[in-house]
Amino acid sequence: MKKKIKFSISNIENQDIKLVSKILKSGWLTHGKYTSLFEKEFSKFTGANYAVSLSSCTSGLHLSCLASDFKKGDEVIVPAQTHTATAHAVEYTGAKAILADIDFETGNLKLDEIKKKVTKKTRGIILVHMAGYPCEIQKIKKFCATKKITLLEDCAHALGTYKDKIHVGNFGKAGCFSFYPTKQITTGEGGMLITNDLRFYKKIKMLKAFGIDKDIKDRKIPGDYDVKFLGFNYRMTDFQSALGYRQLLNYNRNLKKRHQIAKRYIKNLSKINDIKMMPYSKDCSFFVFQIFSEKRNKIIKEFKKLDIGFSIHYPNSLPKMSYYKKKYNLNLANFKNAINYGNMNISLPMYPKLKNNEIDFICKNILKALEI
Ligand SMILES: Cc1ncc(COP(=O)(O)O)c(C=O)c1O
Repeated sequence: MKKKIKFSISNIENQDIKLVSKILKSGWLTHGKYTSLFEKEFSKFTGANYAVSLSSCTSGLHLSCLASDFKKGDEVIVPAQTHTATAHAVEYTGAKAILADIDFETGNLKLDEIKKKVTKKTRGIILVHMAGYPCEIQKIKKFCATKKITLLEDCAHALGTYKDKIHVGNFGKAGCFSFYPTKQITTGEGGMLITNDLRFYKKIKMLKAFGIDKDIKDRKIPGDYDVKFLGFNYRMTDFQSALGYRQLLNYNRNLKKRHQIAKRYIKNLSKINDIKMMPYSKDCSFFVFQIFSEKRNKIIKEFKKLDIGFSIHYPNSLPKMSYYKKKYNLNLANFKNAINYGNMNISLPMYPKLKNNEIDFICKNILKALEI
């Protein structure tokens, strides 16, 4: 039986579309009220003092690296198994992205591996909470404080991820979130940066808008501002902010459903020998539900046959990417866990609209694929 199950379905409702249309008709498309509403709601949700909306998570990571003063001659440690944006953000500044192998069990960077990579030039670390599973961040934070290393968090997968009841993104200097279409909430493209440091926040605000020193509402006459830095245009539009704001208001419901789905996957799949998966964690945001198998190709073949959507995060780890491999002459033997992770993981559908019978269908066919 062929059954179409999408990998990802966004949580955008008809009312949200009506609101976007109202904003489009209003003519006030940027710098509007929904941008500040979204930022306020985001800082409330994450418990951070400040939140800045951005055009993407990548732009947030880029600005975080700039505001942390990373520059040529500096080294910043990032996981080898992540989206290329994490490492690119470092490279944009002229600093070197130092790739470190991950822990295979969690997909995250661990302190032991970080210690192996630290040199006199290390100025920063960017952690990724892979698939929404929190890193051992308290330990890493303490280490960074003793070494005077700036800690940044790539929270692209981690809206709704907690560690010791604190939302991630609050442990380092900044945390950056993504609203790309497959993410827990989406604005098409978009991102948010959180920080608890007022000076850092002010710098990010300027850097995101050309280096201009005054918000539009604070200008006495249009265009009357000074430019203090070589900034960028990394703004989010007001209609995107409205979409994000509305989804965030309902996000706790979305998150609860993700946890229910994860529990059902775990219950269904734990009997299958050829699969590994993370244990359930109440702290995880379940951006996706990942399973690991040496027989992944069999599962993929079955999914394609049945039209079941899936993704892989990520098939090619960064040391395999030409840009990094060539630039730093990397030896793949030093990244065994990242490479295995890339070879074995498969991300299953995960979204509130996913039905129980669809989860059961997916699981049943994973079992079938592995038995063939
Ligand atoms: C871990 C990670 N970091 C950064 C990004 C970049 O996010 P964006 O597309 O919002 O720039 C992604 C994108 O999916 C990601 O998965």
